[in-house]
Amino acid sequence: MKATVFHGSPRKGNTYHATKIFMDELSKNGDVEYSEFFLPKDLLVFCTGCTLCMEGLREKCPNAEFVTPIFDAVINADALIFAAPHYGACSIPASMKTLLDHLDFLVLNVSPREEIFTKKAFIITTGAGTTAAVRPIKNLLLHWGINRVYSRGIRLFTGKWDNMSNEKRAKHERALRKSANKFYNAKKRHPHLSTIFFYHMSKFILKNYVGEGNAPYELWKEKGYFKKRPF
Ligand SMILES: Cc1cc2nc3c(=O)[nH]c(=O)nc-3n(C[C@H](O)[C@H](O)[C@H](O)COP(=O)(O)O)c2cc1C
Repeated sequence: MKATVFHGSPRKGNTYHATKIFMDELSKNGDVEYSEFFLPKDLLVFCTGCTLCMEGLREKCPNAEFVTPIFDAVINADALIFAAPHYGACSIPASMKTLLDHLDFLVLNVSPREEIFTKKAFIITTGAGTTAAVRPIKNLLLHWGINRVYSRGIRLFTGKWDNMSNEKRAKHERALRKSANKFYNAKKRHPHLSTIFFYHMSKFILKNYVGEGNAPYELWKEKGYFKKRPF
């Protein structure tokens, strides 16, 4: 299995620790080849908003130096792992948001890629409230057409993993290892309902608001997506 991992905390703290446990267990299941990206170090710049990627010109992104290796690692992976702590302002660290902005063009109504439809993804988050951090990442991935998105939120009330009691640490470790085993063995399934819904919404938007001669409409026409759901 090829797995691409995005470490979304600016420090190697709780989320990194949780992710390493998950990766360790994943590797016990078989041969897992990892590509790891550390944010913000591996994507030091914000999206400039030029929209070139949305016009099918992703190679011309002003930040291509950072984005191309990330894009290639996403396309070539069987599994994607997104790790991000919960931050109060807009749920996730800015570095993770910056990553998602740079890959936003992969959504079905812009520049979908067939390679994406067979992939599975896992989101790891830590903090007192965890679902809020999972939600924005999961929604976007389902709108890319990722086949299945799983998650594990580690609810903790300390900035340091080792400050937790032995029982708490053992409980979180067990949960992460269980999730890793389930994730490794997860097979491609029927697409998620929200992906199907987004496909129909995209079709409607492209037909009624984008129209012939424009990039996403022409791509959909060429690929036959208007006639048949591609996943
Ligand atoms: C800027 C900032 C904002 C945070 N906001 C929240 C929050 O709103 N809710 C929460 O549960 N934890 C919040 N936290 C705590 C972190 O989510 C928590 O300590 C997390 O485990 C840190 O992960 P890390 O060690 O991987 O960086 C915040 C931490 C930082 C640095």
